[in-house]
Amino acid sequence: MPIGVFDSGLGGLTILRALRMALPQQDFVYLGDQANAPYGHKDAAHIRELTVQGIKCLFRADCSLVILACNTASAVALHDIQTEWLDPSQRRVLGVFVPIIEHLTSRDWGDNSPPTHTGLRDVALFATPATVASGAFSRELRFRARDVHVEAQACEGLVAAIEAGNMQDAIELVKRHVDALLKRLPAPQCAVLGCTHYPLVAEAFQKALPPETRLTSQPDLVAASLKSYLIRHREFAGGSGKFRYLTTGHPATVSSSAKVFAADPTDFETADYADATTPR
Ligand code: DGL
Repeated sequence: MPIGVFDSGLGGLTILRALRMALPQQDFVYLGDQANAPYGHKDAAHIRELTVQGIKCLFRADCSLVILACNTASAVALHDIQTEWLDPSQRRVLGVFVPIIEHLTSRDWGDNSPPTHTGLRDVALFATPATVASGAFSRELRFRARDVHVEAQACEGLVAAIEAGNMQDAIELVKRHVDALLKRLPAPQCAVLGCTHYPLVAEAFQKALPPETRLTSQPDLVAASLKSYLIRHREFAGGSGKFRYLTTGHPATVSSSAKVFAADPTDFETADYADATTPR
């Protein structure tokens, strides 16, 4: 049975690449909602509606487990989707925030004991405006780690530059956003790239940050987390390493832009958005 991987655009391919390396026998279906990207400036209700449509499309493509590779969807919509829409006895949807929080705090998500001293002090978060506005990352981190301070920087324009393949502009934007954050937090202990697109300019982030700042790699953490989840939930695993790429955008254009994100050829097909007008 394939596992669905959802993103607003092509950035989720950075997550998919790590998933495929960790789980070479697993089948995957990737869906990019290019017709509606970027999500980073949309309001919460709209992001939730688009995310539900994407999940439904992946359910129709035979996926019973969907990974929201999109941080914006994970931060803004996942909690509501899990509590108000999804029937977890049938299908599951997982996000990309939990593995980072578990890694940074060295504790399981289900551990609801009071926050402890984890050694974490100053954390920099780079993400889309909607992810930063949701406050989800700092809220979840502070729930577990005492005395932690999160300084978040909304990286205006960065997703659009990367999605368009303008890497020189993207590198300039990274420098500008890192400088802006360092004015408020001069020596972050660690920096989280909280957007699927940003690993493609990770080197530029590392160069612009102080050398002692540790960069957190989301794709590897998400892959390790899914691998351990599938050991506990074998019912969602299976296949022979097959994969498909779906898009709500123009397949030929998206396939050509995808070359920036993936070494292998990625031939996108039109996604089945049969009931896209129905939000539930
Ligand atoms: N892929 C989304 C994320 O990880 C960002 C792109 C967008 O703004 O749509 O947050």
